[in-house]
Amino acid sequence: MTDATPSSDGQTLTVRDDRTGKEYVLPIVDGTIRASDLGKIRVSDDEPGIASYDPGFTNTASTRSAVTYIDGEKGILEYRGYPIEQLAEKSTFLEVAYLLIHGDLPTKDQYDSWVHDITFHTFVHENIKSLMQGFRYDAHPMGMLLSAVGGLSTFYPEARNIHDADTRHLQIVRMIAKMPTLGAWSFRHAQGKPYVYPDNDLSYAENFLAMLFKMSEAKYEADPRLVKALEVLFILHADHEQNCSTNAVRSVGSSQVDPYSAVSAGIGALYGPLHGGANEAVLKMLRRIGDVSNVPAFIEGVKAGNERLMGFGHRVYKNYDPRATIIKKATDDVFEVTGVNPLLKIAVELEKIALEDEYFVKRKLYPNVDFYSGLIYEALQFPPEMFTVLFAIPRTAGWLAQWLELVNDPEQKIARPKQIYTGGRGLTFPSREERWA
Ligand SMILES: CC(C)(COP(=O)(O)OP(=O)(O)OC[C@H]1O[C@@H](n2cnc3c(N)ncnc32)[C@H](O)[C@@H]1OP(=O)(O)O)[C@@H](O)C(=O)NCCC(=O)NCCS
Repeated sequence: MTDATPSSDGQTLTVRDDRTGKEYVLPIVDGTIRASDLGKIRVSDDEPGIASYDPGFTNTASTRSAVTYIDGEKGILEYRGYPIEQLAEKSTFLEVAYLLIHGDLPTKDQYDSWVHDITFHTFVHENIKSLMQGFRYDAHPMGMLLSAVGGLSTFYPEARNIHDADTRHLQIVRMIAKMPTLGAWSFRHAQGKPYVYPDNDLSYAENFLAMLFKMSEAKYEADPRLVKALEVLFILHADHEQNCSTNAVRSVGSSQVDPYSAVSAGIGALYGPLHGGANEAVLKMLRRIGDVSNVPAFIEGVKAGNERLMGFGHRVYKNYDPRATIIKKATDDVFEVTGVNPLLKIAVELEKIALEDEYFVKRKLYPNVDFYSGLIYEALQFPPEMFTVLFAIPRTAGWLAQWLELVNDPEQKIARPKQIYTGGRGLTFPSREERWA
Protein backbone atom coordinates (compact mmCIF):
# COMPACT_ATOMS: atom_id res chain seq x y z
CA MET A 1 0.00 0.00 0.00
CA THR A 2 1.31 3.42 -0.95
CA ASP A 3 1.34 6.33 1.45
CA ALA A 4 -1.01 9.21 0.89
CA THR A 5 -1.73 12.11 3.16
CA PRO A 6 -5.37 11.82 4.24
CA SER A 7 -7.52 14.93 4.07
CA SER A 8 -8.17 16.90 7.21
CA ASP A 9 -11.54 15.21 7.63
CA GLY A 10 -9.87 11.83 7.18
CA GLN A 11 -11.99 10.66 4.24
CA THR A 12 -10.17 8.55 1.68
CA LEU A 13 -10.79 6.47 -1.42
CA THR A 14 -8.92 3.20 -1.74
CA VAL A 15 -8.17 2.20 -5.32
CA ARG A 16 -6.78 -1.20 -6.28
CA ASP A 17 -4.90 -1.34 -9.57
CA ASP A 18 -5.60 -4.83 -10.94
CA ARG A 19 -2.67 -4.53 -13.34
CA THR A 20 -0.15 -4.45 -10.49
CA GLY A 21 -2.16 -5.52 -7.45
CA LYS A 22 -1.13 -2.30 -5.70
CA GLU A 23 -3.55 -0.31 -3.60
CA TYR A 24 -3.59 3.46 -3.35
CA VAL A 25 -5.31 5.57 -0.73
CA LEU A 26 -6.46 8.85 -2.20
CA PRO A 27 -7.62 11.69 0.06
CA ILE A 28 -11.16 12.90 -0.52
CA VAL A 29 -11.43 16.66 -0.02
CA ASP A 30 -14.78 18.39 -0.53
CA GLY A 31 -16.16 15.32 -2.29
CA THR A 32 -13.35 15.25 -4.84
CA ILE A 33 -10.10 13.42 -5.41
CA ARG A 34 -7.13 15.19 -6.97
CA ALA A 35 -6.57 14.19 -10.60
CA SER A 36 -2.83 14.47 -9.85
CA ASP A 37 -3.24 11.70 -7.22
CA LEU A 38 -4.61 9.44 -9.98
CA GLY A 39 -1.43 10.25 -11.89
CA LYS A 40 0.56 8.42 -9.19
CA ILE A 41 -1.17 5.17 -10.15
CA ARG A 42 1.08 3.66 -12.80
CA VAL A 43 2.37 0.29 -13.94
CA SER A 44 5.99 1.38 -14.07
CA ASP A 45 7.96 4.56 -13.49
CA ASP A 46 8.47 5.20 -17.19
CA GLU A 47 4.78 4.96 -18.08
CA PRO A 48 2.22 7.73 -17.59
CA GLY A 49 -0.13 7.42 -14.64
CA ILE A 50 -3.92 7.06 -14.80
CA ALA A 51 -5.87 10.10 -15.95
CA SER A 52 -9.62 10.67 -16.06
CA TYR A 53 -11.49 11.14 -19.37
CA ASP A 54 -14.24 13.74 -19.12
CA PRO A 55 -15.33 15.45 -22.35
CA GLY A 56 -17.38 18.53 -21.48
CA PHE A 57 -16.12 18.42 -17.85
CA THR A 58 -19.38 16.86 -16.70
CA ASN A 59 -17.84 15.50 -13.51
CA THR A 60 -14.64 17.48 -13.07
CA ALA A 61 -14.14 20.46 -10.75
CA SER A 62 -11.79 22.95 -12.39
CA THR A 63 -11.54 25.37 -9.50
CA ARG A 64 -12.41 26.19 -5.91
CA SER A 65 -14.78 29.15 -6.03
CA ALA A 66 -16.61 31.34 -3.53
CA VAL A 67 -18.66 33.29 -6.09
CA THR A 68 -21.84 31.36 -6.89
CA TYR A 69 -23.52 28.37 -5.26
CA ILE A 70 -26.01 26.16 -7.10
CA ASP A 71 -27.92 23.17 -5.72
CA GLY A 72 -29.66 21.84 -8.82
CA GLU A 73 -31.67 19.19 -6.97
CA LYS A 74 -33.20 21.72 -4.62
CA GLY A 75 -33.41 24.60 -7.12
CA ILE A 76 -31.10 26.91 -5.13
CA LEU A 77 -28.98 29.71 -6.64
CA GLU A 78 -26.93 32.04 -4.43
CA TYR A 79 -24.38 34.76 -5.23
CA ARG A 80 -21.78 35.03 -2.46
CA GLY A 81 -24.24 33.22 -0.20
CA TYR A 82 -27.26 35.47 -0.86
CA PRO A 83 -30.33 33.74 -2.40
CA ILE A 84 -31.18 34.98 -5.90
CA GLU A 85 -34.80 35.61 -4.89
CA GLN A 86 -33.74 38.18 -2.26
CA LEU A 87 -31.24 39.86 -4.57
CA ALA A 88 -33.81 40.14 -7.38
CA GLU A 89 -36.38 41.62 -5.04
CA LYS A 90 -34.27 43.95 -2.92
CA SER A 91 -31.06 44.82 -4.73
CA THR A 92 -29.93 46.61 -7.88
CA PHE A 93 -27.78 45.20 -10.66
CA LEU A 94 -24.81 47.40 -9.74
CA GLU A 95 -25.02 46.37 -6.08
CA VAL A 96 -25.07 42.72 -7.18
CA ALA A 97 -22.09 43.39 -9.47
CA TYR A 98 -20.25 44.89 -6.48
CA LEU A 99 -21.13 41.86 -4.39
CA LEU A 100 -19.87 39.45 -7.05
CA ILE A 101 -16.63 41.34 -7.63
CA HIS A 102 -15.78 42.23 -4.02
CA GLY A 103 -17.32 39.27 -2.20
CA ASP A 104 -19.32 41.45 0.21
CA LEU A 105 -22.18 43.89 0.09
CA PRO A 106 -21.03 47.54 -0.08
CA THR A 107 -21.34 50.14 2.66
CA LYS A 108 -23.19 53.31 1.59
CA ASP A 109 -19.91 55.07 0.73
CA GLN A 110 -18.58 52.08 -1.17
CA TYR A 111 -21.84 51.77 -3.10
CA ASP A 112 -21.95 55.46 -3.99
CA SER A 113 -18.39 55.52 -5.23
CA TRP A 114 -18.87 52.23 -7.18
CA VAL A 115 -21.99 53.60 -8.92
CA HIS A 116 -20.21 56.91 -9.57
CA ASP A 117 -17.16 55.18 -11.09
CA ILE A 118 -19.23 52.88 -13.31
CA THR A 119 -21.43 55.78 -14.42
CA PHE A 120 -18.43 57.88 -15.45
CA HIS A 121 -16.77 55.18 -17.50
CA THR A 122 -19.72 54.55 -19.81
CA PHE A 123 -18.26 56.45 -22.78
CA VAL A 124 -15.97 54.65 -25.22
CA HIS A 125 -13.18 56.00 -27.38
CA GLU A 126 -14.49 57.46 -30.66
CA ASN A 127 -12.32 55.02 -32.60
CA ILE A 128 -14.28 52.13 -31.06
CA LYS A 129 -17.35 53.80 -32.51
CA SER A 130 -15.64 53.90 -35.92
CA LEU A 131 -14.71 50.23 -35.51
CA MET A 132 -18.36 49.36 -34.90
CA GLN A 133 -19.54 51.53 -37.76
CA GLY A 134 -17.27 49.53 -40.06
CA PHE A 135 -19.43 46.42 -39.72
CA ARG A 136 -21.88 45.40 -42.45
CA TYR A 137 -25.43 46.71 -42.07
CA ASP A 138 -26.68 43.22 -41.16
CA ALA A 139 -23.88 42.26 -38.73
CA HIS A 140 -24.96 40.08 -35.82
CA PRO A 141 -24.82 42.24 -32.67
CA MET A 142 -22.97 39.53 -30.72
CA GLY A 143 -20.20 39.49 -33.33
CA MET A 144 -19.96 43.27 -33.03
CA LEU A 145 -19.91 43.14 -29.22
CA LEU A 146 -17.26 40.42 -29.20
CA SER A 147 -15.00 42.41 -31.49
CA ALA A 148 -15.51 45.71 -29.68
CA VAL A 149 -14.70 44.22 -26.26
CA GLY A 150 -11.61 42.49 -27.65
CA GLY A 151 -10.67 45.79 -29.32
CA LEU A 152 -10.78 47.63 -25.98
CA SER A 153 -7.59 45.81 -24.95
CA THR A 154 -5.70 47.87 -27.51
CA PHE A 155 -7.04 51.12 -26.05
CA TYR A 156 -5.96 50.17 -22.53
CA PRO A 157 -2.59 48.44 -22.97
CA GLU A 158 -1.92 48.74 -19.22
CA ALA A 159 -4.69 46.13 -18.78
CA ARG A 160 -2.12 43.43 -19.43
CA ASN A 161 -0.60 44.24 -16.03
CA ILE A 162 -2.95 41.78 -14.37
CA HIS A 163 -0.82 41.44 -11.23
CA ASP A 164 -1.56 45.00 -10.11
CA ALA A 165 -4.76 45.25 -8.06
CA ASP A 166 -5.53 48.89 -8.97
CA THR A 167 -5.09 48.24 -12.69
CA ARG A 168 -7.34 45.19 -12.45
CA HIS A 169 -10.00 47.21 -10.66
CA LEU A 170 -9.94 49.97 -13.27
CA GLN A 171 -10.48 47.49 -16.12
CA ILE A 172 -13.35 45.85 -14.23
CA VAL A 173 -15.05 49.23 -13.77
CA ARG A 174 -14.45 50.12 -17.40
CA MET A 175 -15.83 46.89 -18.75
CA ILE A 176 -18.99 46.79 -16.61
CA ALA A 177 -19.55 50.48 -17.53
CA LYS A 178 -19.02 50.14 -21.26
CA MET A 179 -20.93 46.93 -21.98
CA PRO A 180 -24.37 48.62 -22.20
CA THR A 181 -22.91 51.27 -24.53
CA LEU A 182 -21.40 48.67 -26.85
CA GLY A 183 -24.50 46.44 -26.64
CA ALA A 184 -26.86 49.31 -27.44
CA TRP A 185 -24.72 50.48 -30.34
CA SER A 186 -24.66 47.01 -31.87
CA PHE A 187 -28.49 47.14 -31.74
CA ARG A 188 -28.73 50.63 -33.31
CA HIS A 189 -26.29 49.62 -36.03
CA ALA A 190 -28.64 46.97 -37.47
CA GLN A 191 -31.43 49.54 -37.61
CA GLY A 192 -29.34 52.18 -39.36
CA LYS A 193 -29.99 54.56 -36.49
CA PRO A 194 -27.40 56.93 -35.03
CA TYR A 195 -25.56 55.65 -31.97
CA VAL A 196 -26.77 57.36 -28.79
CA TYR A 197 -24.14 58.50 -26.29
CA PRO A 198 -24.52 57.54 -22.62
CA ASP A 199 -26.50 59.84 -20.33
CA ASN A 200 -24.71 59.85 -16.99
CA ASP A 201 -27.73 61.30 -15.18
CA LEU A 202 -29.49 57.96 -15.63
CA SER A 203 -29.19 54.68 -13.75
CA TYR A 204 -27.39 51.73 -15.36
CA ALA A 205 -30.55 50.09 -16.76
CA GLU A 206 -32.25 53.40 -17.66
CA ASN A 207 -29.18 54.56 -19.53
CA PHE A 208 -29.10 51.29 -21.46
CA LEU A 209 -32.75 51.71 -22.47
CA ALA A 210 -32.04 55.31 -23.49
CA MET A 211 -29.10 54.29 -25.70
CA LEU A 212 -31.29 51.63 -27.31
CA PHE A 213 -34.47 53.58 -27.92
CA LYS A 214 -33.86 57.35 -27.72
CA MET A 215 -34.75 59.27 -30.87
CA SER A 216 -35.13 63.06 -31.06
CA GLU A 217 -36.44 63.74 -27.55
CA ALA A 218 -34.16 65.83 -25.32
CA LYS A 219 -34.30 63.35 -22.45
CA TYR A 220 -35.32 59.72 -22.68
CA GLU A 221 -37.72 58.64 -19.96
CA ALA A 222 -38.19 54.93 -19.47
CA ASP A 223 -41.20 53.45 -17.71
CA PRO A 224 -39.99 52.56 -14.18
CA ARG A 225 -41.65 49.12 -14.42
CA LEU A 226 -39.54 48.30 -17.47
CA VAL A 227 -36.42 49.60 -15.76
CA LYS A 228 -37.14 47.37 -12.76
CA ALA A 229 -37.80 44.34 -15.01
CA LEU A 230 -34.49 44.90 -16.82
CA GLU A 231 -32.65 45.23 -13.49
CA VAL A 232 -34.18 41.91 -12.39
CA LEU A 233 -33.20 40.20 -15.64
CA PHE A 234 -29.66 41.58 -15.29
CA ILE A 235 -29.44 40.30 -11.70
CA LEU A 236 -30.66 36.83 -12.72
CA HIS A 237 -28.06 36.57 -15.49
CA ALA A 238 -25.10 38.03 -13.58
CA ASP A 239 -23.39 34.72 -12.81
CA HIS A 240 -23.99 30.98 -12.97
CA GLU A 241 -20.73 29.40 -11.75
CA GLN A 242 -18.63 27.24 -14.10
CA ASN A 243 -20.76 27.26 -17.27
CA CYS A 244 -19.32 27.20 -20.80
CA SER A 245 -18.61 30.94 -21.14
CA THR A 246 -17.19 31.30 -17.62
CA ASN A 247 -14.96 28.35 -18.29
CA ALA A 248 -13.86 30.07 -21.52
CA VAL A 249 -13.01 33.27 -19.62
CA ARG A 250 -11.06 31.31 -17.02
CA SER A 251 -9.31 29.15 -19.58
CA VAL A 252 -8.20 32.09 -21.73
CA GLY A 253 -7.50 34.19 -18.62
CA SER A 254 -5.20 31.46 -17.31
CA SER A 255 -2.68 32.46 -19.99
CA GLN A 256 -2.47 35.78 -18.07
CA VAL A 257 -3.86 37.73 -21.01
CA ASP A 258 -5.65 41.04 -20.30
CA PRO A 259 -9.28 40.80 -19.09
CA TYR A 260 -10.79 42.32 -22.27
CA SER A 261 -9.40 39.43 -24.31
CA ALA A 262 -10.55 36.92 -21.69
CA VAL A 263 -14.09 38.37 -21.60
CA SER A 264 -14.29 38.44 -25.40
CA ALA A 265 -13.65 34.67 -25.26
CA GLY A 266 -16.63 34.41 -22.89
CA ILE A 267 -18.78 36.39 -25.33
CA GLY A 268 -17.70 33.98 -28.07
CA ALA A 269 -18.84 31.02 -25.97
CA LEU A 270 -22.16 32.67 -25.18
CA TYR A 271 -22.73 33.34 -28.90
CA GLY A 272 -23.19 29.58 -29.47
CA PRO A 273 -26.77 28.24 -29.66
CA LEU A 274 -26.24 25.63 -26.94
CA HIS A 275 -25.43 28.34 -24.41
CA GLY A 276 -27.28 31.57 -25.02
CA GLY A 277 -29.81 30.68 -27.69
CA ALA A 278 -32.57 28.66 -26.06
CA ASN A 279 -34.97 31.56 -25.42
CA GLU A 280 -35.15 32.24 -29.14
CA ALA A 281 -35.98 28.57 -29.71
CA VAL A 282 -38.82 28.90 -27.15
CA LEU A 283 -40.36 31.77 -29.11
CA LYS A 284 -40.16 29.82 -32.37
CA MET A 285 -41.81 26.84 -30.68
CA LEU A 286 -44.63 28.97 -29.20
CA ARG A 287 -45.28 30.55 -32.59
CA ARG A 288 -45.39 27.15 -34.23
CA ILE A 289 -47.93 25.87 -31.67
CA GLY A 290 -49.92 28.99 -32.51
CA ASP A 291 -52.94 28.44 -30.26
CA VAL A 292 -53.72 27.06 -26.80
CA SER A 293 -55.93 24.39 -28.36
CA ASN A 294 -52.86 22.87 -30.06
CA VAL A 295 -50.94 22.42 -26.78
CA PRO A 296 -52.11 18.85 -25.93
CA ALA A 297 -51.15 17.55 -29.39
CA PHE A 298 -47.77 19.27 -29.13
CA ILE A 299 -47.11 17.69 -25.72
CA GLU A 300 -47.98 14.26 -27.14
CA GLY A 301 -45.39 14.88 -29.90
CA VAL A 302 -42.75 15.72 -27.30
CA LYS A 303 -43.57 12.58 -25.30
CA ALA A 304 -43.36 10.49 -28.47
CA GLY A 305 -39.79 11.78 -28.84
CA ASN A 306 -40.48 13.82 -31.99
CA GLU A 307 -39.11 17.01 -30.48
CA ARG A 308 -38.15 18.76 -27.24
CA LEU A 309 -40.16 21.14 -25.16
CA MET A 310 -37.79 24.09 -25.41
CA GLY A 311 -37.20 26.05 -22.20
CA PHE A 312 -37.71 22.89 -20.14
CA GLY A 313 -34.99 20.83 -18.48
CA HIS A 314 -31.49 21.82 -17.40
CA ARG A 315 -28.15 20.09 -17.01
CA VAL A 316 -27.87 21.24 -13.39
CA TYR A 317 -31.39 22.08 -12.19
CA LYS A 318 -33.50 19.00 -11.60
CA ASN A 319 -36.15 21.17 -10.02
CA TYR A 320 -37.82 24.46 -10.94
CA ASP A 321 -35.01 26.81 -12.04
CA PRO A 322 -35.27 29.54 -9.37
CA ARG A 323 -34.67 32.18 -12.05
CA ALA A 324 -37.71 30.98 -14.02
CA THR A 325 -40.01 31.69 -11.05
CA ILE A 326 -38.71 35.25 -10.77
CA ILE A 327 -38.90 35.91 -14.52
CA LYS A 328 -42.47 34.62 -14.62
CA LYS A 329 -43.41 37.27 -12.06
CA ALA A 330 -41.54 39.97 -14.04
CA THR A 331 -43.57 39.16 -17.16
CA ASP A 332 -46.68 40.54 -15.42
CA ASP A 333 -45.00 43.93 -14.84
CA VAL A 334 -43.67 44.14 -18.37
CA PHE A 335 -46.94 43.13 -20.03
CA GLU A 336 -48.76 45.73 -17.94
CA VAL A 337 -46.76 48.34 -19.86
CA THR A 338 -46.41 46.72 -23.28
CA GLY A 339 -49.68 44.77 -23.50
CA VAL A 340 -49.79 41.00 -23.19
CA ASN A 341 -47.80 38.97 -25.68
CA PRO A 342 -50.40 36.48 -27.00
CA LEU A 343 -47.77 33.73 -26.85
CA LEU A 344 -47.85 33.96 -23.04
CA LYS A 345 -51.16 32.05 -22.89
CA ILE A 346 -49.60 29.18 -24.81
CA ALA A 347 -46.54 29.19 -22.55
CA VAL A 348 -48.65 29.11 -19.38
CA GLU A 349 -50.78 26.25 -20.73
CA LEU A 350 -47.67 24.29 -21.76
CA GLU A 351 -46.20 24.70 -18.31
CA LYS A 352 -49.44 23.68 -16.60
CA ILE A 353 -49.82 20.50 -18.62
CA ALA A 354 -46.13 19.57 -18.47
CA LEU A 355 -45.87 20.00 -14.70
CA GLU A 356 -48.69 17.50 -14.20
CA ASP A 357 -47.59 15.01 -16.83
CA GLU A 358 -45.76 11.88 -15.71
CA TYR A 359 -43.24 12.10 -18.60
CA PHE A 360 -41.90 15.45 -17.37
CA VAL A 361 -42.30 14.71 -13.64
CA LYS A 362 -40.36 11.44 -13.88
CA ARG A 363 -37.50 13.10 -15.78
CA LYS A 364 -37.47 16.11 -13.45
CA LEU A 365 -38.07 18.52 -16.32
CA TYR A 366 -39.11 21.98 -15.14
CA PRO A 367 -39.12 25.40 -16.81
CA ASN A 368 -35.67 26.95 -17.03
CA VAL A 369 -34.59 30.61 -17.22
CA ASP A 370 -35.21 30.71 -20.96
CA PHE A 371 -38.85 29.64 -20.88
CA TYR A 372 -40.19 33.15 -20.15
CA SER A 373 -37.22 35.47 -20.84
CA GLY A 374 -37.72 35.48 -24.63
CA LEU A 375 -41.33 36.62 -24.16
CA ILE A 376 -40.16 39.60 -22.11
CA TYR A 377 -37.38 40.51 -24.53
CA GLU A 378 -39.81 40.37 -27.42
CA ALA A 379 -42.28 42.57 -25.55
CA LEU A 380 -39.43 45.06 -25.04
CA GLN A 381 -38.99 45.19 -28.86
CA PHE A 382 -35.73 43.26 -29.02
CA PRO A 383 -35.09 41.10 -32.08
CA PRO A 384 -33.89 37.55 -31.23
CA GLU A 385 -30.27 38.33 -32.18
CA MET A 386 -30.17 40.78 -29.26
CA PHE A 387 -31.15 38.17 -26.65
CA THR A 388 -27.58 36.96 -26.13
CA VAL A 389 -26.30 40.55 -25.98
CA LEU A 390 -28.78 41.12 -23.14
CA PHE A 391 -27.25 38.07 -21.45
CA ALA A 392 -23.62 39.15 -22.03
CA ILE A 393 -24.03 42.61 -20.47
CA PRO A 394 -24.84 41.45 -16.93
CA ARG A 395 -22.77 38.26 -17.20
CA THR A 396 -19.70 40.47 -17.58
CA ALA A 397 -19.88 41.09 -13.81
CA GLY A 398 -19.81 37.34 -13.16
CA TRP A 399 -17.06 36.68 -15.71
CA LEU A 400 -14.91 39.36 -14.10
CA ALA A 401 -15.58 38.10 -10.56
CA GLN A 402 -14.48 34.64 -11.70
CA TRP A 403 -11.46 36.07 -13.55
CA LEU A 404 -10.41 37.97 -10.43
CA GLU A 405 -10.70 34.82 -8.38
CA LEU A 406 -8.57 32.97 -10.94
CA VAL A 407 -5.86 35.64 -10.93
CA ASN A 408 -5.69 35.57 -7.13
CA ASP A 409 -5.72 31.77 -6.81
CA PRO A 410 -2.17 30.46 -6.30
CA GLU A 411 -3.30 26.95 -7.25
CA GLN A 412 -4.40 27.93 -10.77
CA LYS A 413 -2.12 27.17 -13.69
CA ILE A 414 -2.45 27.72 -17.41
CA ALA A 415 -5.38 25.55 -18.55
CA ARG A 416 -4.04 22.63 -20.49
CA PRO A 417 -6.14 19.44 -20.51
CA LYS A 418 -4.75 16.07 -21.46
CA GLN A 419 -5.89 14.11 -24.50
CA ILE A 420 -6.18 10.47 -25.42
CA TYR A 421 -4.31 10.32 -28.69
CA THR A 422 -6.12 8.22 -31.31
CA GLY A 423 -4.14 8.98 -34.46
CA GLY A 424 -1.32 7.23 -36.32
CA ARG A 425 2.32 7.15 -35.14
CA GLY A 426 5.82 7.18 -36.54
CA LEU A 427 4.79 7.24 -40.21
CA THR A 428 7.37 7.85 -42.92
CA PHE A 429 6.59 10.92 -45.03
CA PRO A 430 6.28 9.85 -48.68
CA SER A 431 7.39 12.41 -51.22
CA ARG A 432 4.75 14.10 -53.39
CA GLU A 433 6.19 12.32 -56.44
CA GLU A 434 5.48 8.97 -54.77
CA ARG A 435 1.99 9.95 -53.55
CA TRP A 436 0.82 11.64 -56.72
CA ALA A 437 2.39 9.25 -59.20
C1 LIG B 1 -31.08 21.63 -21.15
C2 LIG B 1 -30.87 20.22 -21.66
C3 LIG B 1 -29.88 20.27 -22.84
C4 LIG B 1 -30.28 19.35 -20.53
O1 LIG B 1 -30.03 18.12 -21.04
P1 LIG B 1 -29.42 16.90 -20.20
O2 LIG B 1 -29.17 17.27 -18.80
O3 LIG B 1 -28.28 16.39 -20.98
O4 LIG B 1 -30.63 15.89 -20.17
P2 LIG B 1 -30.89 14.74 -21.23
O5 LIG B 1 -30.82 15.28 -22.61
O6 LIG B 1 -30.01 13.59 -20.87
O7 LIG B 1 -32.41 14.36 -20.91
C5 LIG B 1 -32.84 13.42 -19.93
C6 LIG B 1 -34.21 12.88 -20.36
O8 LIG B 1 -35.18 13.95 -20.39
C7 LIG B 1 -35.65 14.17 -21.72
N1 LIG B 1 -35.65 15.62 -21.94
C8 LIG B 1 -34.72 16.52 -21.52
N2 LIG B 1 -35.09 17.75 -21.85
C9 LIG B 1 -36.27 17.63 -22.51
C10 LIG B 1 -37.14 18.56 -23.08
N3 LIG B 1 -36.85 19.87 -23.05
N4 LIG B 1 -38.27 18.11 -23.67
C11 LIG B 1 -38.54 16.78 -23.70
N5 LIG B 1 -37.76 15.85 -23.15
C12 LIG B 1 -36.63 16.27 -22.57
C13 LIG B 1 -34.64 13.48 -22.63
O9 LIG B 1 -35.26 13.06 -23.85
C14 LIG B 1 -34.22 12.32 -21.77
O10 LIG B 1 -35.26 11.35 -21.82
P3 LIG B 1 -34.89 9.78 -21.84
O11 LIG B 1 -34.24 9.51 -20.51
O12 LIG B 1 -36.19 9.11 -22.05
O13 LIG B 1 -33.93 9.61 -22.98
C15 LIG B 1 -32.21 19.60 -22.13
O14 LIG B 1 -33.09 19.52 -21.04
C16 LIG B 1 -32.83 20.37 -23.29
O15 LIG B 1 -32.50 20.13 -24.44
N6 LIG B 1 -33.77 21.32 -22.98
C17 LIG B 1 -34.38 22.13 -24.01
C18 LIG B 1 -33.44 23.25 -24.42
C19 LIG B 1 -33.30 24.33 -23.38
O16 LIG B 1 -34.29 24.82 -22.86
N7 LIG B 1 -32.05 24.73 -23.09
C20 LIG B 1 -31.77 25.83 -22.16
C21 LIG B 1 -31.02 25.37 -20.97
S1 LIG B 1 -30.81 26.73 -19.86
